[in-house]
Amino acid sequence: MLKQPQQKYRPFAPVRLADRRWPDAVLDRAPVWLSTDLRDGNQALIEPMDLARKLRLFEMLVKVGFKEIEVGFPSSSQTEFDFLRRLIDEDRIPADVTIQVLTPAREPLIRRTFEALEGVPRAIVHLYNATAPVMREKVLGLDEDGVVALVETHARLFVDLANARPDTQWRFEYSPETFSDTELPFAKRVVDAVTAIWQPTADRKCIINLPTTVERCTPNVFADMVEWMHRHIARREHIVLSVHPHNDRGTGTATGELALMAGAERIEGCLFGNGERTGNLDLVNVALNLYTQGVAPGLDFSDIDEVRRCVEHCNQLPVHPRHPYVGDLVYTSFSGSHQDAIRKAFAQRRDGDIWDIPYLPIDPKDLGRSYDAVIRVNSQSGKGGIAYLLEAEYGIELPRRLQIEFSQVVQAVMDDTGKEQSAVDIWGIFEREYALNEVSVAHPAITSVEPGVVSLGARVDAAGRQMQVEGVGAGPIDAFVAGLQARGERVRVLDYHEHAIGSGADARAIAFLELRLDDQTSLFGVGIDADIVSASLKAILSGVVRARRQPAQAASVAIVA
Ligand code: KIV
Ligand code: ZN
Repeated sequence: MLKQPQQKYRPFAPVRLADRRWPDAVLDRAPVWLSTDLRDGNQALIEPMDLARKLRLFEMLVKVGFKEIEVGFPSSSQTEFDFLRRLIDEDRIPADVTIQVLTPAREPLIRRTFEALEGVPRAIVHLYNATAPVMREKVLGLDEDGVVALVETHARLFVDLANARPDTQWRFEYSPETFSDTELPFAKRVVDAVTAIWQPTADRKCIINLPTTVERCTPNVFADMVEWMHRHIARREHIVLSVHPHNDRGTGTATGELALMAGAERIEGCLFGNGERTGNLDLVNVALNLYTQGVAPGLDFSDIDEVRRCVEHCNQLPVHPRHPYVGDLVYTSFSGSHQDAIRKAFAQRRDGDIWDIPYLPIDPKDLGRSYDAVIRVNSQSGKGGIAYLLEAEYGIELPRRLQIEFSQVVQAVMDDTGKEQSAVDIWGIFEREYALNEVSVAHPAITSVEPGVVSLGARVDAAGRQMQVEGVGAGPIDAFVAGLQARGERVRVLDYHEHAIGSGADARAIAFLELRLDDQTSLFGVGIDADIVSASLKAILSGVVRARRQPAQAASVAIVA
C-alpha cells in the first residue's frame, strides 16, 4: 500500500541526557574557526574552482583571519594535488596559518595525501569514514567491529607516515562521517579507538570533528549528542572537540551555536553557507552573531562586500539578497512603522552609545556598509521613511503635519506605479507637488511704517501668473498676505516653520507654511530661498498655486495626525 509522506520517515530519537548543561551555557568566546570553502564548499560547486580561483579564495581566507584552512582533498584530483603543491612550493602559507587536507580511510589515498604534503611546515591531516547504521549496512557492508578495525588500520597508517616525515609538525583530525545518524555508544567506541592509537597529548592535541553530514534532527538534539560525547569520550582533555554542521533543515547556524554551548570548541563551515546540497554551516553568520553577545569573533568582516564579491567570483554562485548580514536588502526597512522607529532611535543616538537601534541588530558600518540603504520607500512605507530620505539626502526636516500630507502624495504615486521610490524620486515629487520651481519673488521692498508695522511690495510669479503684491501688516508675511487678500486671494497663515539648509555662504532657508485658503482648504506651502523672508513669501505662493490646481491634481488631503 502507498504510504503517506509522513509515514516514510523514521522520527529522530531524543537523547537520554537528564542533566544536560548546555541550555544554561553562554557563548563568551569565539571558537577556533576552520574554513572548508576550498574542500567541502568546492566539492559542492557546479564548476569546481580552478587554480586561480582557489588561490584567490585562499588569500582572502588568510586576510579575513582564518588560522586553520582546509585546502582540499589532494588525492581526489590533479587540480587538488597541484593546488596544494603551489601553496607549499611557493611558500604561500603564512607562519600563523595551518592548512588541513582531507582523506578517506583508504590506504592508497592516505599515502598520496602525505606525498602531496611533502615539505609542508605544519599540517592537519583529516581522516574520515562513515559510521551510521545505514552506511555500515547498505554501503560499506561492515558490522561495528569491521568499522572499528578499518578505522584502527588507517589511524595507524597516519602515525607511520607522519613519523617518516619528522620535519613537519603534524596534527591529526578524525571525523566519524554521518555522526548525527550514528548511535552514540558506537560513535564513542570509534573515536576512542582512534585516539587510543594517536595518543594525543596536551601539547599535541588531536581534533575530533562531529558532523551533521545530513542535518536530520533539531539543533537541541544535536547539542545533546555533542554534550554526551564531550562528557563520555576518552582522553577528552587532549582533544579539540569540533563540529561540522550542514544545513538540510535550514538550522545549520542554530546547530553550530548550540553545539558550541554543548562543549565543542572548534567549528567547521563555509563563507555564506556554501556547501553540499543546502550548504555547510555559514561561518559568517555564526561569527557575526557573536557581536550580539558582545563577543569579538576574531575574523575580520569589516568589508563584507569585498568578501562576498570574492566568494561569488570563486564559487560562481550568487549570495541571496536576504542572506544574513551580507544580502543587499538586510539593512533595509520598507515598512513605515519600522522606518519611524529607526529614524527616532538614530536621532537620539550619541557617539559611544551602545547599539540600540530597533530593527537593526548590527551597525551596518561595522561591516563596511553605509546607512544609505537603511530606509527605502515603497507602498508599505509611511511618512517616516519619506521624511528620513529627505532629511538624510537633502537636509530637509519636514514638520510632522507636512510629513503626513506629503506621504499621501507619495503613496498615490506608488499606488499608480507600483514601484519603489528612491530619494531622488521623492525629491522630484516634492519639487512638483510644492511648485518649488513655479514661483518666484523679486526683491521684496520692506519699509517700516511705524513700530510693529511694515509695508511690503514685491513682484511675484505664481505658476505663470505675474503680479505686483503690495500690503501693510505686522511683519513681512502679514503684509504679503494682506497684499494677496487685496488682490482677491482668500489666504490665511495657520502655522509657520523654517530652518536653514546647509551652512556658510551656500546656506539657504526653507519655509513651511500651513495655510487656510478660501476659508476651507488647509494645506502646506513650501519655499526655498537664500533669503528667509523670500522663502516665506514663496511658501505662501506655493500654497496658492497648489490650491488653484485642478482638484484631481491638488493634494489638499486630509491631515489625520
Ligand atoms: O559532512 C561531512 O560529514 C564531511 C566529513 C568529511 C567531515 O564533510
Ligand atoms: Zn561536510
